Amino acid sequence: MRPPKKIFFCIVVLVFGGSALTILLISSDVYPFCQKDLFILNRNSGDFLKLPEADCSMNTPFLVILVTSRLGETEARMAIRQSWGKERVIAEKRIVTYFLLGNNFRSYEQIAVATENTLYKDIIQKDFLDTYYNLTLKTLMGLEWIHKFCPQSTFVMKTDSDMFVNTYYLTELLLKRNRTSRFFTGLLRMHDHPVRDPSSKWYVNEEEYPGNYYPPFASGTGYVLSTDVASQIYVISKKVPFFKLEDVFIGLCLSELKIQPGKLHSKPTFFSGHVPYSPCRYKKIITSHYTAPSHIMLYWDGLEKSIAEECPESQDN
Ligand SMILES: *[C@@H]1O[C@H](CO)[C@@H](O)[C@H](O)[C@H]1NC(C)=O
Ligand SMILES: *[C@@H]1O[C@H](CO)[C@@H](O)[C@H](O)[C@H]1NC(C)=O
Repeated sequence: MRPPKKIFFCIVVLVFGGSALTILLISSDVYPFCQKDLFILNRNSGDFLKLPEADCSMNTPFLVILVTSRLGETEARMAIRQSWGKERVIAEKRIVTYFLLGNNFRSYEQIAVATENTLYKDIIQKDFLDTYYNLTLKTLMGLEWIHKFCPQSTFVMKTDSDMFVNTYYLTELLLKRNRTSRFFTGLLRMHDHPVRDPSSKWYVNEEEYPGNYYPPFASGTGYVLSTDVASQIYVISKKVPFFKLEDVFIGLCLSELKIQPGKLHSKPTFFSGHVPYSPCRYKKIITSHYTAPSHIMLYWDGLEKSIAEECPESQDN
């Protein structure tokens, strides 16, 4: 008769102990991120794990930059927060940056990200496995967030955490272009075809995509869309067959919506490779790829310091 009693005792201790601990955690300041997450989850958050602290109806951004990032890339996020991703007003337009995260099974990284989010409140996260071929889900999560929480914004940019983005030049060109609806731009790929080489990162078999050509799209390293297009892509994405290459998937949605990607400027400004740094060169580009966190900071610093300086070939309007 003794063992069952012991078990019963243990269960009682576990249940009451667990509840007491939960109440303690929720009500104490020791775990502010627990409180925060619970608070946010109550606010009709769907299946978002984390949402940024943003009220787009009050403090409406002109441009929301969504950066795909992985849990462990804290250094890159910090560099972006201190450089091009810092919230700022350019030409009276508010620019904000949020990070898109999936999940993994490394709990230490999840705790680190939760702590990071209590400080910066700029993370959008859902519970899907964070892998390259889930990038489509990550991007759609960002567009869902725009659709549900920030439809008041004017433009959305999707980019990556190893990118340098010249937000000054981007804002200038968006204002000059003056197209705030049905607009989609970036490094345009108008006649790309599927890669049929199985050793390639972009390999796609006939079953996944039988066609010889992709519809027009823009390189996933950085594209910009008016917010109405972001919402429409999110809505139509449920009817478009899932495709693992996120930039092509966006192209498939655009084609369904009958929206043709357009140029932002007559000269190339979006680059999917690395652009060698010089202050004058960087004044007239929007994206440069493969930029380490330390270089993101250096380039941004150089850009800000030289902002008032004249450049020799700057007559390209
Ligand atoms: C994408 O995420 C889902 C949900 O976590 C997971 O089941 C699936 O295996 C992931 N897909 C890939 C290709 O990693
Ligand atoms: C932008 O376009 C609108 C309507 O198409 C026009 O009324 C306005 O003057 C334009 N603004 C600039 C700065 O070109």
